[in-house]
Amino acid sequence: MQEKLFDVKEESFESAIRPTSIDEYVGQTEIKENLNIFIKAAKMRDEALDHVLLYGPPGLGKTTLSFIIANELGSNIKTTSGPAIEKSGDLAAVLSSLEPGDVLFIDEIHRIPRFVEEILYSAMEDFTLDIIVGTDSSSRNIKIDLPPFTLVGATTRAGDLTGPLRDRFGIVSKLSFYTEDELTQIVKRTSGVLDCPIDDDAAHELARRSRGTPRIANRLFRRVRDFALVLGDGKIDLDITKMALDKLKVDSLGLDQTDYNLLRSIIDKFNGGPVGIEALAASIGEEVTTIEDVYEPYLLQQGLMKRTSRGRIVTKKAYEHLGLPYKEI
Ligand SMILES: Nc1ncnc2c1ncn2[C@@H]1O[C@H](COP(=O)(O)OP(=O)(O)OP(=O)(O)O)[C@@H](O)[C@H]1O
Ligand SMILES: [Mg+2]
Repeated sequence: MQEKLFDVKEESFESAIRPTSIDEYVGQTEIKENLNIFIKAAKMRDEALDHVLLYGPPGLGKTTLSFIIANELGSNIKTTSGPAIEKSGDLAAVLSSLEPGDVLFIDEIHRIPRFVEEILYSAMEDFTLDIIVGTDSSSRNIKIDLPPFTLVGATTRAGDLTGPLRDRFGIVSKLSFYTEDELTQIVKRTSGVLDCPIDDDAAHELARRSRGTPRIANRLFRRVRDFALVLGDGKIDLDITKMALDKLKVDSLGLDQTDYNLLRSIIDKFNGGPVGIEALAASIGEEVTTIEDVYEPYLLQQGLMKRTSRGRIVTKKAYEHLGLPYKEI
């Protein structure tokens, strides 16, 4: 019961702070500018927007942007996800429910089973649903016309998409980590929406320690707000922010305990690397995909880790950041 209440609260927090228009969506400037043009053009031609693929690490705003695209088009959005589509019939059902101009959002699109994926090819290309009905001797192919629609796919693993599927997206956008200034804006926006003021320097500190990721910035904001309420006078200033982030074990670059374990493991157990991703994952008890999707992108971006043909290595900057003497490999 306790858990449930918590979920509801988290969800309403999410929906309150999630931007709904392109103007409220901070950062990703190039992507926004291009999308703006494509959306306008599609509307002027009275056509469906070309299919869009959004990819990048978790929490950077793929789902948010998908909903914004539908909003800006003035279209309805239907949502599903790769793992929810187990058989051809699941996808056929979703596709045949589409109305002209609808946006179909498929989250984790890389997880659609391969044999189902083929249905998407003709649906995306010719707006036809090409399916086999019946079994064995009585089976036959049927073609059903679909209304023009826009598929928006989101994934953290674009590399896992098959070539034929990737090629059918006319617009492919890679979301990148946000700058400190952009994250500061996001924190300030959240603070405004929740009517919970934060000092400028505190917002900046929070932004700096949010791993370039809006979801983390918002999550940390919520925790800092708790600390300020219980241990302070409710006011979110720099002191309480630093204290809270230290207690949450988020360091000056935004690294958490798992980042530390990962870097320390490469240094202590593998002599700084190179080490293969499987061995590394086993050594810290994490999934390979979790390391690849969640942890590694930021460590690479920060120049704390490198990928070489022989495996991952830790950089001099990482040794310095961890306060360890650097050994030339
Ligand atoms: N550009 C942005 N401006 C303001 N807030 C943002 C922005 N992008 C994301 N957010 C906030 O961060 C949260 C996480 O974003 P979102 O759920 O869209 O990420 P995602 O890329 O879909 O993550 P996942 O890969 O885990 O599905 C959103 O609820 C939203 O409040
Ligand atoms: Mg998402």
